[in-house]
Amino acid sequence: METRLAKADDTLLDEAAEILKSGGIAAVPTETVYGLAANAYDVEAVRSVFRAKGRPQDNPLILHISSVDMLCDIAESVCPLALRLAENFWPGPLTMIFPRKKHVPAETCGGLDTAAVRMPKNGFTLKLIEKCGFPIAAPSANTSGKPSPTSAHHVFEDMNGKIPLIADGGACSFGVESTVICFENDERVRILRPGAVTPEMLREFCDTVIDSGVLGKLEPDAKVLSPGMKYKHYSPDAEVYILKGSTKAIEDHLKSKATGKTGYLGFGNEAIPADVVIFPYGRTSGEQAENLFASLRKADEAGCTTVYVRMPETSGIGLAVYNRLLRAAGFRIIDTESGESDAL
Ligand code: TXA
Ligand code: MG
Repeated sequence: METRLAKADDTLLDEAAEILKSGGIAAVPTETVYGLAANAYDVEAVRSVFRAKGRPQDNPLILHISSVDMLCDIAESVCPLALRLAENFWPGPLTMIFPRKKHVPAETCGGLDTAAVRMPKNGFTLKLIEKCGFPIAAPSANTSGKPSPTSAHHVFEDMNGKIPLIADGGACSFGVESTVICFENDERVRILRPGAVTPEMLREFCDTVIDSGVLGKLEPDAKVLSPGMKYKHYSPDAEVYILKGSTKAIEDHLKSKATGKTGYLGFGNEAIPADVVIFPYGRTSGEQAENLFASLRKADEAGCTTVYVRMPETSGIGLAVYNRLLRAAGFRIIDTESGESDAL
């Protein structure tokens, strides 16, 4: 199959909607990462998404909507807190989990009796959902396990030959996937995956707990609230390690370990040995979120076999960066002060 890359503007809407209405799949931009879109109510289309990504069947997809009416068509019940959060954070990077109605295919939801729903902010994709009139199931448009795509070019690397269309909306503004939450009651939510809607932002509205799976390692057969958290994720081909410690200790570590095929994502204030290749990361958590996945992909392109990433702050969107990084690194953290290496 030939894969067409085309600018995500109004002239592409009809073509993209036609593909989805006829049971096909297409990659679309969102404000977080690119998604691999299909009609969430069409079981065959959803199966093609799982196939194109090589995604395990029990890892459910997010249903993307363009109106609260669409939410009511999916969710068996919507608590007042969910409505309040929707008012404040939609369209935007917040995914909420609801008990699902029977007509929502089990395949879309990985066999669970719940459905994850979000309203994306990207104008093209919102209009596309509206035009289609059905929710769009869209996992991140990467091959399962690889870093998520934050540009149309990344999608092309993973999906060329597998899908007919990639709608190019430019670089994604946040660069990490949406925050996923479930409701414990009408006053409390649990964060299953951190994102740009941060714990601090949610705490303005309700009690917010962070699930132990966010920073902890889960075994493949573990019973978890969010199946996606147990799989190897976001990993480039290179071996990734998180470096903890002062700027000086990190510089010394890089000096002693550089092999010429070593990459580094740092804050920009380190003196880096000449044979270490530097990739964009950034000083602020926002910049780090934007650059993390693209830089891990670049490290592979540059032929790096080892990539060190400086430990980010863990507050705000930094928690999302750290959550993705832990998985990319297989939970390997090197404390450059003590020389000790942890695999959590
Ligand atoms: O920002 C995003 O959320 C992007 C863009 C494309 O919207 N999508 C995305 O989808 O990241 P995906 O499939 O890569 O991640 C969906 C996550 C997985 O961790 C999955 O396990 C979880 O959401 N999830 C989906 N449905 C769920 C459910 N019913 N219960 C618990 N977790 C669920
Ligand atoms: Mg994903």
